[in-house]
Amino acid sequence: MSLDLSAILSIWNFVLGFIVFVYLFYKYKFTQWNSKNIPTLSPSIPFGNMQNPLTRKTTTYEHLKSIYDHMKARGAKHLGIYSYFNMVYVPIDLEIVKKVMTTDFQHFVDRGVYFNEKDDPLSAHLVNIEGDKWRKLRTKLTPTFTSGKMRNMFIILTKCGEQMLDALNETKEVDIKEILGCFTTDVIGNCAFGLELNSFAEDKNDFRDFGKKAMKPNLMGILKLIFCMTFQKLSLALRLRILDKEVSNFFMNAVASTITYREENNIQRNDFLQLLIELKNTNDINNRLTLQEISAQCFVFFLAGFETSSTAMTFCLYELAKNQDVQNKVRDEIVKTIQNHNGILTYDGLSEMKYLQQVLNETLRMYPSVPFVARKCTMDYSLPISGKLMKKGTRVFIPIYAIHHDEDIYENPQVFDPERFSDENKTKRHPYSFLPFGEGPRNCIGSRFGLMQSKVGLVLLLQKYRFEPSSKTEKITFNPNGILMDTKETIWLTIKKL
Ligand code: HEM
Repeated sequence: MSLDLSAILSIWNFVLGFIVFVYLFYKYKFTQWNSKNIPTLSPSIPFGNMQNPLTRKTTTYEHLKSIYDHMKARGAKHLGIYSYFNMVYVPIDLEIVKKVMTTDFQHFVDRGVYFNEKDDPLSAHLVNIEGDKWRKLRTKLTPTFTSGKMRNMFIILTKCGEQMLDALNETKEVDIKEILGCFTTDVIGNCAFGLELNSFAEDKNDFRDFGKKAMKPNLMGILKLIFCMTFQKLSLALRLRILDKEVSNFFMNAVASTITYREENNIQRNDFLQLLIELKNTNDINNRLTLQEISAQCFVFFLAGFETSSTAMTFCLYELAKNQDVQNKVRDEIVKTIQNHNGILTYDGLSEMKYLQQVLNETLRMYPSVPFVARKCTMDYSLPISGKLMKKGTRVFIPIYAIHHDEDIYENPQVFDPERFSDENKTKRHPYSFLPFGEGPRNCIGSRFGLMQSKVGLVLLLQKYRFEPSSKTEKITFNPNGILMDTKETIWLTIKKL
């Protein structure tokens, strides 16, 4: 009996000691921004300034926006917050944003995203990898996205677009994100994996299913991600992986079998995979890529490429349905330009559609597919204004969504107005006030391809259909668990054949 009591007392002391330790640890951590003279908000244990992931009502980017608005109204040019106990620096002033992303880039080379190359090889892709390894890979992959290569892939895009049109072919209500998701899955599946998927024809499409699974983790997946991001070293030691094993095996096998098939049958195509195969077989050993590295890059092109562009097109058509005058104007431009190119949609014709570019820019302003981006301080940095040191390892969030909705930069930010992006109006703003593809050496490598595929999808659809709001979708709200821009509700639109 007495033994039991002493055991209970020991456990009690241990638990109490642990609670006191955690409390003091947090209290110490929470003094850090004050000691650097950086404006901050009062944090609480255990989430710091972030929301409880189990009960949050808004997205992280909307939450960042409310912090940004609050601090900017008090005259702050930057601020420091805590994600759990980790320090996060948030620049507000666009000159500071520019410093972090471009001018002082050598201090902010990495994103600080958790990845585990050994146990989860597909996670070692261009978005996640760091330092010199990233620099070398970025240099090798950059030629994959030149305008010459884009021109070669244009034909694949229009072919996938035609399949989309064949599948619609009538007046009805459609889940527009699903339609556009099938289109971009087909395009990227074709360009990155060399596979003719035709998601519209087949009931079951593993690429579409596994792609969705990789983009939309369940609650356990989200909690695991938060754990891995907060305790990166511990997670590596525990050999935790983020990507589901089944998803990972699927994509690794898809790349390996396609490469084998092409090499055995001597097949060459104008796509990303072909360029990656050339890097695998190059005689220059410094530039050679392994099969594992190729698989990781194909995977990231697929993930980064299909969701971002289908989101951009979805919101674009949603806004065009609500703004019929803008829809008519952009359609007029499309019809006239195609007529001037002998009735055919060409790469050059697409580049001439200036108003379409304005419409897409305004969509990406209101609904940036990637609403905030991260950097990690890779070398101690003298903080602007305060002059104190930001320690290596500190994370930085660039609040893209908040900047794009800042009333001081964009009057009436909730109004969809493509005129904001006319040549004249564009020059009146700071160049870092529009960041849909990020900025600086770590910006989006696929922006040209993303824009091209979004424009092709929009042109083909707008040429044949009028888009109108559907009574099934009256109001949209953002999915609180989404890291990328995503809605809770399905976006239904009525399409009418012209
Ligand atoms: C509308 C379409 C797209 C949007 C809005 C978009 C947006 C972004 C953003 C905001 C970033 C982060 C940039 C930064 O941190 O400064 C990024 C990075 C990246 N994107 Fe895109 N993206 C799009 C399409 C694509 C496509 C089609 C691909 C590939 C085929 C792609 C591949 C990547 C990669 C690999 C990175 C990481 C680059 C690096 O770290 O070096 N993206 N994208």
